[in-house]
Formats: sequence, C-alpha cells, structure tokens
Amino acid sequence: MATWNPRERGRGREREGENKKSRNGSDPKKEPPIPKDGSTAHIAAQTFTFRELAAATKNFRPECLLGEGGFGHVYKGRLESTGQVVAVKQLDRNGLQGNREFLVEVLMLSLLHHPNLVNLIGYCADGDQRLLVYEFMPLGSLEDHLHDLPSDKEPLDWNTRMKIAAGAAKGLEYLHDKANPPVIYRDLKSSNILLDEGFHPKLSDFGLAKLGPVGDKTHVSTRVMGTYGYCAPEYAMTGQLTLKSDVYSFGVVFLELITGRKAIDNDRGPGEHNLVAWVSMHLSFLEF
Ligand SMILES: Nc1ncnc2c1ncn2[C@@H]1O[C@H](COP(=O)(O)OP(=O)(O)O)[C@@H](O)[C@H]1O
Ligand SMILES: [Mg+2]
Repeated sequence: MATWNPRERGRGREREGENKKSRNGSDPKKEPPIPKDGSTAHIAAQTFTFRELAAATKNFRPECLLGEGGFGHVYKGRLESTGQVVAVKQLDRNGLQGNREFLVEVLMLSLLHHPNLVNLIGYCADGDQRLLVYEFMPLGSLEDHLHDLPSDKEPLDWNTRMKIAAGAAKGLEYLHDKANPPVIYRDLKSSNILLDEGFHPKLSDFGLAKLGPVGDKTHVSTRVMGTYGYCAPEYAMTGQLTLKSDVYSFGVVFLELITGRKAIDNDRGPGEHNLVAWVSMHLSFLEF
C-alpha cells in the first residue's frame, strides 16, 4: 500500500491555525516531511498465510505468549522467510466489531508512519483467521515497567519517564497535527505504549482510531469506546469525540508516569480507585 503523506494530500483544506505556518517544511518545530521521491517509502504491509504465522510462533505455543489484551493474544515469533523477530497478534473476538478493528488497524498502520508509532509488518486474513504482525518491541509495554513490578525489576528513572512521555506526545502530535485528515487515536493507555531499545516509545493498537473532524467541525459523533480510567468524561457522556479526548488520555498516562499509580486501581482504599479523582482531590486547593 502507498505511503500516505498527510501534507501532500491537503486538497486545499485548511485547519485552524495551519495557514499561519510555513508550508515549505522550514518550520523547525515540524518533523521532516516524507520525501516526495518515495526513496524511504515504507514497505507495504505483507500478507501472510496462517501456516507461516503458526510456524513463526511454534504453533502459538504458550511459552511464546507476550501478553493478552481485549483484541486477542500476542505471541513472539520468528519469520521463517527472513529470520525477523516479530510480535503476532491473533484476534480472538469474532463478529463484526473484531473484523472492523482488524481492518481499521491494517489501514491506519499502512498509511501512518512515524518513529513513535509501531510498525505493522503485515497481516493474515486466511479464512476466519485474523492476525497482525508487528515489529517486536523488546522492552514490552510501559505498563509492564510501571505497575506490579517483579522484585528483580528496577523502576523507571525520572529521565526515562520524561523521555517516554515526550515520545508518546510526538506520536500523538503526528496523528493530530500532521496527518490530514487528523486521526483520533482513542486508546492511549500505558499498555499501548510499547518500548523499543533504549526505552524509545511507540504507540500501538489502532483498531479504535477514527478520522477526526474536518472543516469547521469540532467533533465526530461515535459510540463510546476506549478504556475505563483513560476516557475523557465529556466524550463518555456525549459520544462526541474530539482530538482533545486523546489529550485527556495522555494526561492520565502522564499522571501514571509521575505518580507510579494505575489509572484504575480497585485494590486501593476509598477515594483512591480512580487516579484522576485522587489527583484532583489533592489539587483541590489550587484555583484554576
Ligand atoms: N509489538 C509488540 N512487541 C512486544 N510486545 C507486544 C507487542 N504488541 C503487544 N505486546 C504485548 O502484548 C500485550 C497485549 O497487547 P494488546 O493485545 O495490544 O493488549 P493491551 O494493549 O490491552 O495490553 C501488551 O500489553 C504488550 O505487553
Ligand atoms: Mg495494546
């Protein structure tokens, strides 16, 4: 699939504030645009057979299991054809919603490319099987490094926490300000921030992503989806999704990073289950 260069396909649409900025890429605050000659064009997502992915993960052996989420199980594998180490996500939710999330993820990750977004290597849609093949992220997810640490694991130091927050923010900025139309991620949470060598963060899981509002619109209306504890209250109440819904979720991840607490923790005492409520209580003496 072709690379989606958000800037090249502007079709004359202007978003608020955009007309004030230089369009020739000279703005030092901007990420370098994708070269027009396609020299670094991303390799299109490959298709795999189920047999290839079963071989890669030793038949989805439990020892290869990396984690389990709402979408399915994730296994570590090695592609026989190239020797590349990958993460294979096997969709276990049947029906329309699961298939829809699969399609959205394949489309979004085929079109969007940024150093702070996870790379989709390919997918498998053999019969009823739906699998996604990603680059393997050796340090797992941010959640794995923040909460319920085994005794032999060091907590993240402050600089690393800030580096992860800055990288996640850059990924989000790309989705919101560089992609055209903008993309609302809708599932920003610590388990979806995956960590590469050196704790370089990448956003993953685009199955819930939505194209954002265009023109004069400020929101898109949708069914409320996302993860409890990270979801912006005004979106949860009205179903009106805006780019700011992601910014709220980013704020929750940031609070997790600086407090070390979970977004939702039912093992804590009364008034402390919800991180945002707990922080608000402590800040209530401040006037905003
Ligand atoms: N590309 C990857 N590389 C390494 N580990 C991964 C990768 N993708 C997912 N994982 C691991 O598998 C777990 C489950 O992933 P996922 O199905 O996205 O569910 P969730 O985001 O709800 O945890 C993640 O939390 C992470 O630890
Ligand atoms: Mg995930």
